[in-house]
Amino acid sequence: MDIDPAHVDAVLATTRAVRRRLDLERPVDNQILLDCIDLAEQAPTGGNLGSRRWIIVRDQAVKDQLGELYRATALPFMAAAAERLRGTGHAQERVMESAVYLAEHLAEVPAIVIPTIIGRHDGGSRPGLFDSVIQAAWSFCLALRARGLGTTWVTAALQDEAKVKEILGIPEHMTEVVLFPVAFTKGTEFSRAQRRPAREITYFDRYGTTSAAGPGDALRFDDGPGLIAETDIDASPATVWALITDIDLPSQFSDEFLGARWDSDARGIGAVFHGRNHHPAIGEWTIPCFVDTWVEHRAFGWCTSDPEQPGAHWCFELEPSAGRTRLRFSYVIGPGQSGTTRAITLNPGKEARVLRRRLNDVQTNMQRTIDGIKSLAEGGS
Ligand SMILES: Cc1cc2nc3c(=O)[nH]c(=O)nc-3n(C[C@H](O)[C@H](O)[C@H](O)COP(=O)(O)O)c2cc1C
Repeated sequence: MDIDPAHVDAVLATTRAVRRRLDLERPVDNQILLDCIDLAEQAPTGGNLGSRRWIIVRDQAVKDQLGELYRATALPFMAAAAERLRGTGHAQERVMESAVYLAEHLAEVPAIVIPTIIGRHDGGSRPGLFDSVIQAAWSFCLALRARGLGTTWVTAALQDEAKVKEILGIPEHMTEVVLFPVAFTKGTEFSRAQRRPAREITYFDRYGTTSAAGPGDALRFDDGPGLIAETDIDASPATVWALITDIDLPSQFSDEFLGARWDSDARGIGAVFHGRNHHPAIGEWTIPCFVDTWVEHRAFGWCTSDPEQPGAHWCFELEPSAGRTRLRFSYVIGPGQSGTTRAITLNPGKEARVLRRRLNDVQTNMQRTIDGIKSLAEGGS
């Protein structure tokens, strides 16, 4: 059988959370839902034990109760969030508005489908339980999409588990995983979502090791090896921004970085500072750093040595999320000359070892730096 990857990729890339574009008027036949469940059941299952049980809700009285429950559980916080975000242009603004719409119209969808699994999620690693249902539930969404239907992965409606069990008569030993409002979609064109590219979130051989190109079997300078260190901070982006743009601060935490000074009062892209460093094998050195990324409260990055041929690139990024901030610190070696290129030249045939040692040293200091910033931002010392 020839599988056209373009079609499969299109389904994988455009199966969105559909809320406002659910066609509440067009009927959905049970057979199409059963066909999608048959496909979903092809998903892997721990111990090859088929423990998923699906509920299709059609009865208007039952849909009304589920709708009422969803509104009671989720509408207050969703409406408050939608109100808070209105007019801000924040990425969540439209999501919250459409989530409110769905909560208000849940009972009107042609069908509600709830995959459940026999067993209780006990946090253990036994196969055949909870972890065997997510993949099937997502296959169900993909199968719907391939047939012109859509849904949204809704969990907030299941928060009051006792009530859900009571409404649907689900026994205690079952776990409900997600609730799908199902309908044909109004139109079938959906876009890809904005997501981080794979290279930014994929590590090679060791946690945190990135590669701008490649890699082949081993670490290679030409592939732009690098690192990511991340932490979630219980503080606002403004608080964390003040700390990451204090360029001298990491000297409190890193055992290589001794301190830094701005060359002038200029800030922003094009501003320059000099950093002092120390390494037992090299001694002390000072390096010019050229700011190439400056987005207030979001990102601060710089390259070292030569803006055209940097020895390395460093960047702090801040991702706000519900009052907290994810701090992401990245480092990429090259493409220009640096102490690392000198060490590679001095150790012929040992490029991968030199790079691994360098990455290990830097990773330790990056982790200390973000841990230190987290502690300061959260009010520690
Ligand atoms: C675990 C999980 C829980 C979710 N719960 C809800 C929910 O209760 N209500 C809702 O409207 N959307 C819910 N969503 C959908 C997300 O809001 C949606 O995936 C997100 O906005 C991104 O949109 P996209 O899927 O189109 O990329 C949930 C998604 C996941 C993965």
